[in-house]
Amino acid sequence: MSQILTIADLKDLARRRVPKMFFDYADSGAWTESTYRANEEDFGKIKFRQRVLVDMSNRSLESTMIGEKVAMPVALAPTGLTGMQHADGEMLAAQAAEEFGVPFTLSTMSICSIEDVASVTTKPFWFQLYVLRDKDFVLNLIDRAKAAKCSALVLTLDLQILGQRHKDVRNGLSAPPKMTLANIANIAMRPRWLMGIAGTKRRTFRNIVGHAKGVGDVSSLGSWTNEQFDPHLSWKDVAWIKERWGGKLILKGILDKEDALMAAKTGADAIIVSNHGGRQLDGASSSIMALEEIADAVGDTIEVHMDGGIRSGQDVLKALCLGAKGTYIGRPFLYGLGALGKEGVTKALEIIRKEMDITLALCGKRLVTDMGKDQLRR
Ligand SMILES: Cc1cc2nc3c(=O)[nH]c(=O)nc-3n(C[C@H](O)[C@H](O)[C@H](O)COP(=O)(O)O)c2cc1C
Repeated sequence: MSQILTIADLKDLARRRVPKMFFDYADSGAWTESTYRANEEDFGKIKFRQRVLVDMSNRSLESTMIGEKVAMPVALAPTGLTGMQHADGEMLAAQAAEEFGVPFTLSTMSICSIEDVASVTTKPFWFQLYVLRDKDFVLNLIDRAKAAKCSALVLTLDLQILGQRHKDVRNGLSAPPKMTLANIANIAMRPRWLMGIAGTKRRTFRNIVGHAKGVGDVSSLGSWTNEQFDPHLSWKDVAWIKERWGGKLILKGILDKEDALMAAKTGADAIIVSNHGGRQLDGASSSIMALEEIADAVGDTIEVHMDGGIRSGQDVLKALCLGAKGTYIGRPFLYGLGALGKEGVTKALEIIRKEMDITLALCGKRLVTDMGKDQLRR
């Protein structure tokens, strides 16, 4: 553990411990993966201003996201199939986030259900909603998130149709895994993962199976999911979802200024500048390059968050400088989870915290909330 110093170290360990099908599911983007790569690479083009001889004592990374106090403005992003990176993955990640003091967002396409996560946490978590064709199911999901006392609904807007990730097709991705010869051989070399999965009852999409009409078991799930993403979704739908939910609402998947201005008009509490981690429109801009224009356009009318490509505390600070009030990490916490379970998620957060703290000091700032465009060299 003492040799794990970076998110890349956690990724290397996860690659060795998680079956290829699920590691690849996390470590992939749509088509040529150009946007997936740009999300990470474009952070490298942004430079800080180094300052000296300023008082660096009493530093703080504390901030707020949608009015909730956070130990640092880094939430865990909603990720599907997290319970296949490690047994009971969503429950473990939610606990790690709670102990650390940052928000955890549960995906609609999770393995552990809303109720599973609520049963092992004491503070409210956030729930991410996909609007599917089966509106009764969607209404029921919203009500279940309310009953579990989730404190924000994250509505994902950029997946009305599924982008294609070639690795998933080639690997025959499914939960539980398809028992092809290649997959059996690969899983056999990951006994730690296998023992975990064998020891839990949570191995399928538990928000869906047993809740959606006509989905009683895993065999009916595949066809149901493929048919369910709704290409008709429009801005009008945001209104009824907001009404039914009645709490804090975050709109995820905005990458364009015009859409950001529309989003601000809905009365939602925040937007997430995001391209779904490069998993949807290959060839779209990286999130960090889209951020500044969007933040400038919406001004104070709506809180701006961002995700995509954050692999260090420095990346978080760059996003804050360019106008984000909060950020999210997807793969960094998944790699931690796959590598070391709950401890690995904590490790990912600790790595990012340390990098943020030292960078903040060397930029001559004591409060993370003071980071702005002035701290960047341009
Ligand atoms: C394996 C994986 C599964 C994901 N599943 C979802 C999901 O179910 N819902 C959603 O809104 N976004 C999903 N996303 C996108 C993330 O919420 C987030 O936008 C993205 O991971 C951020 O990029 P990063 O992984 O580079 O931090 C997923 C991302 C990954 C890597």
